[in-house]
Parts: sequence; structure tokens; C-alpha cells
Amino acid sequence: MIAVLGATGTIGRHVAAGLAERGAQARALVRDPATCDVPLPAMRADLREEASLLEALEDVDRLFLLAPHGPDQDLLEANAVDAARAAGVRRIVKISGGAPSLGPNGVSSTAVAHWRSERRIEDSGLEFCFLRSSFLMQNLLGMAPKGRIMPAPMGHMAVAMVDARDVAACAVALLLDEREQAMAWHLTGPASVTFKDVAEKLGARYVNVPPRLAAIALRRRGASPFEVDHSVRMAAYFASGADATPTNAVLDITGRPASTVDQFLATETHSTKGT
Ligand SMILES: NC(=O)c1ccc[n+]([C@@H]2O[C@H](COP(=O)([O-])OP(=O)(O)OC[C@H]3O[C@@H](n4cnc5c(N)ncnc54)[C@H](OP(=O)(O)O)[C@@H]3O)[C@@H](O)[C@H]2O)c1
Repeated sequence: MIAVLGATGTIGRHVAAGLAERGAQARALVRDPATCDVPLPAMRADLREEASLLEALEDVDRLFLLAPHGPDQDLLEANAVDAARAAGVRRIVKISGGAPSLGPNGVSSTAVAHWRSERRIEDSGLEFCFLRSSFLMQNLLGMAPKGRIMPAPMGHMAVAMVDARDVAACAVALLLDEREQAMAWHLTGPASVTFKDVAEKLGARYVNVPPRLAAIALRRRGASPFEVDHSVRMAAYFASGADATPTNAVLDITGRPASTVDQFLATETHSTKGT
């Protein structure tokens, strides 16, 4: 039995769909099974409630671990790892942050949280696959141009962004792989692109916003101090060019090439084009 945490989210819903398509014995672990709209049987589990995790993981062999982005992400993931170990889960496939961002002094508190969770999983003795994902192309949907302008604090360097559907396809392949696993992968698209390139593809002009102004705009929109700090730090990381190198990991894991930004935008044009 495979269990999927985060099954209603951007990545997890494609993991759930991929497992269902392959006819895998799997269930979605969700906070509200009544509203769960993914094609797997749903069982209630909350990363904040140990008892619910232990119950939902009782007969589970492999766990897809995705925790929501937030200030206590590593604590939520620790709850899942500890419950998985106690329940006899054999393998964890974890969504992690981009490989160059991670470390005990990672580029943001989320990057540090992912690094801590990876260490906890390694120390648990369970099999693991860490899917260290670059900037998700789906983030572009929230950066849609305002008229002819696409303002963002992402600098001018290229980023090897990846489609969340490719990340999910890697997770499905590794959840179903019968071979023993203990591996970390840096998942990227097939080529890196700048935000200027992306804006032009959307018929707009990219305007690089100074981080201080971006932080003010986020605060005005009601973002929490955590969200503001995370956004500004991640923008500085991508602006440094640290995540500009594409890898072959999606091809190696799934046997098919990762989607390009053009392919992604072709399927998402209606939601990304400005008016
Ligand atoms: N965005 C990026 O560029 C990027 C890049 C690399 C890595 N990541 C990592 O990807 C992860 C986010 O993935 P995503 O964008 O697919 O997430 P998402 O769309 O925000 O979805 C979050 C999921 O977590 C579930 N969830 C929230 N609180 C929960 C709780 N207490 N117990 C159980 N489930 C809970 C949500 O379910 P309900 O709300 O339906 O209950 C939802 O299914 C983060 O770990 C982030 O660091 C993101």
C-alpha cells in the first residue's frame, strides 16, 4: 500500500492521479476526505495529529511525503517520519527544496527545514528518495503579467524551472520502483530560462523589482513575516543564478524528457496571459 500526503496540492494531485492511472494500491491521506477530489480512496490524516498519522499509515509500505510550506514545516515532516517509522513504512519519497539551496545554513528557513527533514529520514534507517525540486513552473501562474508588464524581484539570471507534473511523475516512478532506494535527485526542466524570457513568451516586459519594494508590496497584500522573508530570500537565491543548471534527472527517472517552459505555457496560456 502506498500513502500520499499533500494529495490535494499542486504536486500531490498529480502523484495521486499517476498512481490511480497505474492501478497502484494507494490511498490519499487528507485532512478532509469528504472534499477530497483526487482519484484515490481518501483517509483522514493531519500532520499535526500523531494518532491520525499512525492510524492512516497502519498497512502502508511506501509514503509520499509532502508538507505544506510554512514556519513549522520541519516539525510537521518530523511527525510524518516518526509515525512512518513506528508504523513500519519501508520507503519515504520526499519532496524537498532545490539542491543548491539546502544545508544547515540553507538559503531560507524552508531550505533549512528540508535539509533537517532529509537528515531525519536518513537517520531513521528507512529507504528514501529525495526529490529536490527547482522553481516550479506553476509558480509562474501567480506572477501573471499586469497588462504588458511582469514585475518580480527574480533578477536577471536563468533558472532551470521544472513542471510540477514532471516532479509528480518522478515520485510515481520511485514509489513503484521495486529496487531498494537511497538517493537524492535534483529535478529541473530541460533548459534554464530567465524571467525576461518568460515575460516575452507571455507578450510582456519583465521589470526587476528591488527586494525592498517587493517586501513592501507583499506586506501590503497581507503576507505574514514568514512569507515575506521566504519570498525575498528565495528571490535572491534565484537571482544569484545558483539554480541555473539543468539536470537529466526527470529523463533518468521517468524515461521521458522534462517539459519545457514553452510546453508548460502552452497548456496554461489562459491562466497566465494578462489582459
Ligand atoms: N513552489 C516551489 O517552487 C517549490 C520548489 C521546491 C520545493 N517545494 C516544496 O513543495 C512543497 C509544497 O508543494 P505543493 O506546492 O504541491 O503544495 P500545496 O499545493 O501548497 O499543497 C499543500 C498540501 O498539503 C496539505 N496539508 C496542509 N496542511 C496539512 C496538514 N496539517 N496535514 C496534512 N496535510 C496538510 C494540503 O491539503 P489540504 O489543505 O487539502 O488539507 C495540500 O494537499 C513544500 O514542501 C515546498 O517547500 C516547492
